[in-house]
Amino acid sequence: MSHETARYSFVDKDADYAALARELQSLLADERDLIANAANATALIYGALPDINWCGVYLIKGGELVVGPFQGKPACVRIALGKGVCGTSAERRETVVVPDVHAFPGHIACDAASRSEIVIPLIAAGTLLGVLDLDSPHLARFDEADRRGLERLAALFVKSVSG
Ligand code: SME
Repeated sequence: MSHETARYSFVDKDADYAALARELQSLLADERDLIANAANATALIYGALPDINWCGVYLIKGGELVVGPFQGKPACVRIALGKGVCGTSAERRETVVVPDVHAFPGHIACDAASRSEIVIPLIAAGTLLGVLDLDSPHLARFDEADRRGLERLAALFVKSVSG
């Protein structure tokens, strides 16, 4: 299988996230394996979005978050629920958008270049699977359109492994 990721400008974010969602859906259509689909989903998103320096998942294992497939620099492996941006999103079960990571108490710095971050919880029929985490080297990189678009991509990923 070869997959050529489409080029997106993200000038019209809603339209480009909609197109990226279609691309993700077809990429994951024939597979249900959690690690395989997390690897392909994060690679697709990392390749498509501008101004991103990390994109990956943390998966719940033994009551904590453990790093899973990602693109970017090597990352911290384990994050307790309630800790950092990832653990906060997982504990609250809601998306957390951080415009300035230095202003977020307890932020866990993996790549010193990261300036802003968004973390989306991955929830399958009430069960928390983990989180999708994106970092950017730019301040306030993620807005409401990014939140909507990335929550949609996260939902497609969850459906592909649990539907
Ligand atoms: N910054 C995250 C840690 C994970 S890395 O960004 C890849 C946090 O505070 O939870």
